[in-house]
Amino acid sequence: MSKCRICGGPVREFFDFGRQPVSDVFPAPSDIGTEHFYRLAVGFCSTCTMVQQSEEVSRDHMFPADYPYRSSGSALMRQHFEQVARHMLATELTGPDPFYVEIGCNDGIMLSSVRAAGIRHLGVDPAEDAAKVASAAGSRVHVGFFEESTAREIRKSEGPARLIFSANTISHIAYIDSVFAGVGALLAPGGVFVFEDRYLGDIVNHTYFDQIYDEHFYLFSVRSVQAMAEVFGFELVDVEHVPVHGGTMRYTTARAGERTPTEAVAQWLAKEHESRLSEPATYDSFATRVTTNCKELKSMLAALQAEGKRVVGYGATCKSATVTNYCRIGPGLIPFVCDSTQEKQHRLTPGSHIPIRPSEAFSDPYPDYAVLFAWNHAEEIMAKEKEFKASGGRWILYVPDVHVV
Ligand code: SAH
Ligand code: TYD
Ligand code: ZN
Repeated sequence: MSKCRICGGPVREFFDFGRQPVSDVFPAPSDIGTEHFYRLAVGFCSTCTMVQQSEEVSRDHMFPADYPYRSSGSALMRQHFEQVARHMLATELTGPDPFYVEIGCNDGIMLSSVRAAGIRHLGVDPAEDAAKVASAAGSRVHVGFFEESTAREIRKSEGPARLIFSANTISHIAYIDSVFAGVGALLAPGGVFVFEDRYLGDIVNHTYFDQIYDEHFYLFSVRSVQAMAEVFGFELVDVEHVPVHGGTMRYTTARAGERTPTEAVAQWLAKEHESRLSEPATYDSFATRVTTNCKELKSMLAALQAEGKRVVGYGATCKSATVTNYCRIGPGLIPFVCDSTQEKQHRLTPGSHIPIRPSEAFSDPYPDYAVLFAWNHAEEIMAKEKEFKASGGRWILYVPDVHVV
């Protein structure tokens, strides 16, 4: 049993995916043999309820300067962050000269709206190439990891922040004590630290097992974030569920005692209690469903191959690293995966080494079946690729169970 990174309590492992590669580093064919692997396993702390990984991958392996993920690749996410920015501008970024800090700004998907409103801002992200996209558009970015020392430097040179925001990043940071210490040093009195991440309740209830990969070191719930905030002198004061990435929760935290928690916090805690989200049996049945989905996916692909059908993958997501490596699906079953991200094209999927081709390869000619690894963008992708189904093609999904549409 390992020790909880938040409270020091005992962590009971409930699923072991075995040897897995870093999920967002796409090797060129000549890089095979140099990839970094680790044991991907997740467990549950019986004291504070935080779900977390047993082994930490070093941040330099996960977030190098040429980290290829680009947030703005999805129209849905661009729209989502415009909405979040509008909401923040109306509620938190008010008063004289509010300062906005964003942890993990990537290519500036959210920063751009805050900048356009004339707000003083600073993004912090170690992914230099992605950060350059944000700065080329006119946003201010500090290239580096947010941690206590970075936060103290920013506080010294720029003054306190009214809002510290982060999306799909806080759950990636195992050394979260340093992040909270930094937030404590940088946040103005009365300010808030707001972050959104994949929601554990959705992952468990819909068997979204592929949301488990190196970057998602923590899988947050309302209860575990409430406990975590308390450990670091903060308080969870509001939550909002948003439907992006298969189910996301936005958490608003403030220094303990500064704001009154909303009804939504109590409602979500009750909902999690009713759905037994913090009970070990829930994780045992999740583990059984994961094994079933993987077996069924693999046998479906083998059966289609035996029938002579052509199957390709759609979306070289991080999620697909967990699926292809755990289910041992390689180029023998899926000859290529198409993806619109230039930085991923002509490279290979991590560990499973399936070639990645540009989106145009999909219709050249259409395959019989396509495994939708980017299932969280299903609506956008299916609309874009409507000719595929019209030509007789079918999508294969493996969550919440294996099915064809
Ligand atoms: N906020 C964007 C990007 C999420 S990807 C979105 O929601 O789409 C996660 C980002 O966090 C990456 O760009 C990565 O480089 C960055 N990151 C990882 N650790 C970080 C840290 N300690 N401080 C700041 N950014 C970090
Ligand atoms: P995403 O599911 O957002 O993230 P993760 O890697 O964290 O699992 O990744 C979506 C991937 O799908 C990304 O590489 C871009 C690609 N994509 C397309 O190829 N076409 C599209 O129309 C969309 C929306 C995404
Ligand atoms: Zn704990």
